[in-house]
Amino acid sequence: MTIIVLNFKTYRESTGVEALRLAEICEDISQEYSVQMAVVPQVADIHAISKAVKIPVFAQHVDGVGYGGFTGHITAASLKAAGASGSLINHSERRLKLAEIDAAITACKSVDLKTIVCTNNVATTQAAAALNPDYVAVEPPELIGSGIPVSKANPDVIRGSVAAVKAIAPSVGVLCGAGITHGEDLKSALELGSEGVLLASGIIKAKDQRKALEDLVTGAR
Ligand code: G3P
Repeated sequence: MTIIVLNFKTYRESTGVEALRLAEICEDISQEYSVQMAVVPQVADIHAISKAVKIPVFAQHVDGVGYGGFTGHITAASLKAAGASGSLINHSERRLKLAEIDAAITACKSVDLKTIVCTNNVATTQAAAALNPDYVAVEPPELIGSGIPVSKANPDVIRGSVAAVKAIAPSVGVLCGAGITHGEDLKSALELGSEGVLLASGIIKAKDQRKALEDLVTGAR
């Protein structure tokens, strides 16, 4: 089943009550069109959203630290307690060092949270796959928020990431993202071998978010 992961980032249109409203739309779309959707709100919105919807709720970031004196960090245990199903790790807007990515994956696994490690090219996809997350999501940073879909502008980074992951850790899923907005963008992302997309502005900044999501899903069929 196609996977669509909607990153709420810190957009006004997906913060607080707006985040809740958008998560409910995503749940409707997931049910109506039989696609697997996950939402990625800000950490302060996770608890309310996970209570309100049944689709998976992911965090945008998690730190690889445990209980103790770690002021300002986000622990996997606190995300789990808030109702999260998983977390993004190493998003282009929240980069980590390799050892921190490894620690964050380990922390998530210890409390049974899913992990999506973001990468920016085939080489970093290879490195991330070797750490055995559930998914890698390759997103060339220059295309993020551009409206120019990675699946058209740089199909080789998707093809190369899929091949690299297959060679290193075939159980790791591959998502892609950056500039994905329309059904045709999703369709070509799937044709290039990814299992789904990680996206944000094309939906969140749309005048009608529900219609934008419907167009994305139906246009890919
Ligand atoms: O996490 C998704 C993201 O970075 C892609 O953003 O706005 O290009 O869909 P956008």
